[in-house]
Amino acid sequence: MVYLDNAATSYPKPPAVLDAMRAAIERIGASPGRGGHRQAIEAGRAVFRCRAAVADLIGASEPERVAFTKNATEAINTALCGVLRPGDRVVTTDIEHNAMWRPLCRLARTGVEVDVVPAEPDGTVDPERMLRAIGEGTRLVALTHASNVLGALVDVRPIAAAAHAAGALVLLDAAQTLGERPLDVEGLEIDLLAAPGHKGLLGPQGTGFLYVGPRVDAIEPLTFGGTGSRSEEEQQPDVLPDRLESGTLNLPGIAGLSAALSYLAEHGDAVRASVRQRTAELVTGLSEIAGVRLLGPREGAVRAGLVAFTLGQTDSEEVAAALDQRGVACRGGLHCAPQAHRKAGTLDRGAVRLSPGPFTSAEDVETAIRAVDALAREVLP
Ligand SMILES: Cc1ncc(COP(=O)(O)O)c(C=O)c1O
Repeated sequence: MVYLDNAATSYPKPPAVLDAMRAAIERIGASPGRGGHRQAIEAGRAVFRCRAAVADLIGASEPERVAFTKNATEAINTALCGVLRPGDRVVTTDIEHNAMWRPLCRLARTGVEVDVVPAEPDGTVDPERMLRAIGEGTRLVALTHASNVLGALVDVRPIAAAAHAAGALVLLDAAQTLGERPLDVEGLEIDLLAAPGHKGLLGPQGTGFLYVGPRVDAIEPLTFGGTGSRSEEEQQPDVLPDRLESGTLNLPGIAGLSAALSYLAEHGDAVRASVRQRTAELVTGLSEIAGVRLLGPREGAVRAGLVAFTLGQTDSEEVAAALDQRGVACRGGLHCAPQAHRKAGTLDRGAVRLSPGPFTSAEDVETAIRAVDALAREVLP
């Protein structure tokens, strides 16, 4: 089986991830931040090591500003619900994943004003358009770094600069870019960065994080409860990351993520080069197949490691199922981002998405392209 669904979750994981998860269960076992015995202290250290590694990766000088979540969705919800209040204005785009779009729609019903800036048809976001929308009185600019359907990379720097000039905060959804693209939260002035641990970072499912920058003066948690700290107080502690980390942490997941981050620290350049190369091969190969329409930026343009396409008028889930029969694991349908499909004109039949990972070989890509080509000959007139 050729696995080309890394945009959903990366597979396989580096073997060290499995070893670290097993060791966390077998040899540490205890609850981090709860109890003073040696195993609990070791668990706390393992969590801190991972926090420091995440901070290092994203250019954050204070690791305690990284709060662990169970995925990117939880991180995005925490950021949006944590900083937006009725009467606030938020500027976003019309290509957001439902992880961003659904909480925004819910917040709109509570009196938050949601201003949606249209992205370009290929998924790029025109900074000028964003600048015009931001204006005075915007509390938050919330957008994806790359659409999970269109793949175009968004140029964050000018948007963040305009947001800050207007006194707004910036939330970036890096679900499709972190690990594949360098991101420096302090250099780019990103106030809130939400990311999964289980996609480009190569960690296990059940991991993710939210970075909360120093400009965010107050953030309300999504959940309240035990933090292992200040237990005598009725209120949730103000201090990060405790404020956002209620309940027992996912120690095996976090230990696995740590190992994945060590892997990336060692092999990151090769990983990024390989994913870029495989993505380019997919774009070239697919664009040569009659009946295939590629979504997103043109060949050679900057795109995240995913390529979505349609095959004539065929339903994308049927195409994905037929590719599965031919040994290619990929995703069809609406990819939790109906707005991006509306933009691409594929809301009716969705799109098929091929997304390589660091362990995808050139032969895997060839296999996938041959399978799409064979299917195109079969189903198209
Ligand atoms: C752009 C984008 N944002 C958010 C998410 C949600 O990520 P998670 O599944 O980790 O919650 C995804 C997942 O596909 C995504 O592609």
